[in-house]
Amino acid sequence: MKYNFDEIIDRRGSGSVKWDFGEKLKAMGFTERFDDDTLPLFTADMDIAVPPPIVNAMHRTADQRIYGYTMAPPAYYSAVIDWFERRHNWSIRQEEIVFCPGTVHAVATAIRAFTEPGEGVIIQRPVYYPFTAEIEGNGRVVANNQMILNDEGYYSPDLEDFEKTAQKPENRLFILCNPHNPSGRIFSNTNLKELSRICAKHNVLIVADEIHGDLIRKDSEFVPLAKVADSTGHILTCTAINKTFNTAGLAATNVVISDPVLRKTFLRTLGNAMPSPFTYNAVIAAYNECEDWLEELKIYLDGTIDWVLEFLSKEMPKVKAFRPEGTYILWMDFRGYNLAAEEIRKRIYVDANVILESGTMFDPDSGSGFERVCLASPRPMIKEAFERIAAQFTE
Ligand SMILES: Cc1ncc(COP(=O)(O)O)c(C=O)c1O
Repeated sequence: MKYNFDEIIDRRGSGSVKWDFGEKLKAMGFTERFDDDTLPLFTADMDIAVPPPIVNAMHRTADQRIYGYTMAPPAYYSAVIDWFERRHNWSIRQEEIVFCPGTVHAVATAIRAFTEPGEGVIIQRPVYYPFTAEIEGNGRVVANNQMILNDEGYYSPDLEDFEKTAQKPENRLFILCNPHNPSGRIFSNTNLKELSRICAKHNVLIVADEIHGDLIRKDSEFVPLAKVADSTGHILTCTAINKTFNTAGLAATNVVISDPVLRKTFLRTLGNAMPSPFTYNAVIAAYNECEDWLEELKIYLDGTIDWVLEFLSKEMPKVKAFRPEGTYILWMDFRGYNLAAEEIRKRIYVDANVILESGTMFDPDSGSGFERVCLASPRPMIKEAFERIAAQFTE
């Protein structure tokens, strides 16, 4: 391997949400314990250095010595367009791309732009919980289309219930999360086509959050919704380098909106949004120069996920976990231990001193007994975390 993903970088003191804000995390209920020995494997950023071309681009930008107002230059758009053409065989045009400082920001903007207070937004739980926070925080209502879980731990969309939910006139927007966080599922082309058809039929707009779409297993395939759908006039697609290249702090999301009227409405609600010079240069470097790094990273993540699954099957066989098709997230079902959720939490967060994210955050009704872990840390750290957790579940 050309890159050393095993390197452990001390992130304490860098303002990292995961590593530096113990007291705040405790106050927010993320954990009951945080000290020098804590291994935080929760929020989805990687404890892995970004590719060298991005670091070089940051140095070049810093050396410019003036950080004034910047706009994305033509090279920015070509980098984005070429990436999606090359990697996903998806053609997008420059005028369809709207820069937005972050994906949650883009989702919140769409909620405000296309729905009124009191109206419903469809999500598929268990799902990335900031969607709920943005829906409810903006005075809208969650319309849950619960994902179906089979005995092997495999999630699929409930299309029948989806149509029933979509046809209610108060439900105006659907937030698709594909690859799906936390289950790691990639929706099949057939399901995507059907979800899109139902939404088009009932005038429901779709925000497709596809920011994990470049982080998939070697044997997986990811196809953007807008490529599969029969029409794209009702689709806004969020793409980003943030997860793929570990640059979440640079807040670089591109929303692809092919319909000009939707785009205008979205832009009006978004207001002024310009990428910082660091942000736009990171996007250009990431999409133009970091493909080999990403291919190696994917092999590394596959190896880590395989290690964890094998470890669980040997050391904690009562935990059910389905191999994620995309993302670096693992969704683990601890219900086989027949323990109260608080006891599971105490053993992991306090006794093992590892911070994960509890299932009820993603699914208040059926998430109890589940835990989400992010596996994008150096493998030695992941191994230590799982060894510590297993030591608490010896029965
Ligand atoms: C599905 C999904 N959407 C959005 C985000 C956040 O993206 P951003 O940092 O661009 O707001 C995350 C981060 O974990 C995520 O998993």
